[in-house]
Amino acid sequence: MKFQTIAIHGHGGPDPAYGAVMTPIYQTSTFAFKGILEPGKFDYSRSGNPTRKALEDTIAALEGGTAGFAFGTGMAAEATLLASFSAGDHILVHDDLYGGTYRLLTSVVAKHGIEVEFVNMRCLDSLKAAFKPNTRALWTETPTNPLMNLLDLKAISDIARERGALTVTDNTFLSPYFQRPLDLGVDIVLHSTTKYINGHSDVVGGAIVVKDPALAERIYFHQNALGTCCGPQDAFLVLRGIKTLAIRMEAHNRNALAIAQWLEKHPKIEQVLHPGLKSHPQYELAQRQMTGYGGTFSFKVKGGRKEAFALLSNVKLHTLAESLGGVESLIEHPATMTHVSVPEDARLKMGITENLIRISVGIEHVDDLIADLEQALAKV
Ligand SMILES: Cc1ncc(COP(=O)(O)O)c(C=O)c1O
Repeated sequence: MKFQTIAIHGHGGPDPAYGAVMTPIYQTSTFAFKGILEPGKFDYSRSGNPTRKALEDTIAALEGGTAGFAFGTGMAAEATLLASFSAGDHILVHDDLYGGTYRLLTSVVAKHGIEVEFVNMRCLDSLKAAFKPNTRALWTETPTNPLMNLLDLKAISDIARERGALTVTDNTFLSPYFQRPLDLGVDIVLHSTTKYINGHSDVVGGAIVVKDPALAERIYFHQNALGTCCGPQDAFLVLRGIKTLAIRMEAHNRNALAIAQWLEKHPKIEQVLHPGLKSHPQYELAQRQMTGYGGTFSFKVKGGRKEAFALLSNVKLHTLAESLGGVESLIEHPATMTHVSVPEDARLKMGITENLIRISVGIEHVDDLIADLEQALAKV
């Protein structure tokens, strides 16, 4: 089945109880046993729930995996996966990624005896040199948030496999519609479903998808042991959002590329970081690895904080807000908003400067979005 069909029918069709076309919200904490020692298919909603299962099966099918797991947030998905490693394990992490992931790794995970080491994985030689005998996993995010750097997932996962380590990829920015890491050799795909997968800025959620049955068992055990799953209401919303994922991603992609091309010619813009522009240093990798660029990218205004703030305070249609991937356009200042949890020196080393702005382009009409940015830039 093709992507669009899986997005709608991936969980197996109408609900078996009454034939409801849309999966019902099984708002229950527990399920009746059929008799002594005879649980039904589900027994307790932390361990499993039919609405959540429909979502998990759909996400797994969209990513080309065999098992999916849905969580209360993207961070809950990350925390659950990281809890499945042991003290003494070494995890290599790409050195430019979402601020919340950076905080979890440096302030929580490292406290539990897991060795976390940052390395620039765009340089495969540096990556190879960073391996230790206890390296168990490589943690990647591509494109990176907010700098839009790309990682070569096929090359990186080949290196990891040869050395007995797992590769994890945060696929939040592109969704499986534009990038399928498992097909490239990655072992574990992770999402903040808060973003494109749900797509309507009305729920927070996370997901993990794997292919390997042993990994599926490991993730399931930790999801259940930690209780990090999402509730049925949120699962329903994300499942509903997924049904339009393909058409939303097409619209996000089209609008964002048009805006990036327009910004690149604007005299008040220093640089546009968008992998669909020929000026992007990894344009060739983008063509090879992704089938589209998504709706989020970043740009630098000429000047510094003052100019960035002037733009941000003068937009009218774009909402000044964190998050991304919803139908409405959002704009934000990574240095003081999404990436404020990264210490200033690390932030600057990554390239998150004061004039950097991240934009999540929605599916409004592109002419209105450009007109809004134009009037705001005129005030910078
Ligand atoms: C790339 C990426 N991964 C993970 C997360 C965390 O997800 P959540 O906010 O749903 O916990 C985010 C949130 O912005 C993100 O952008």
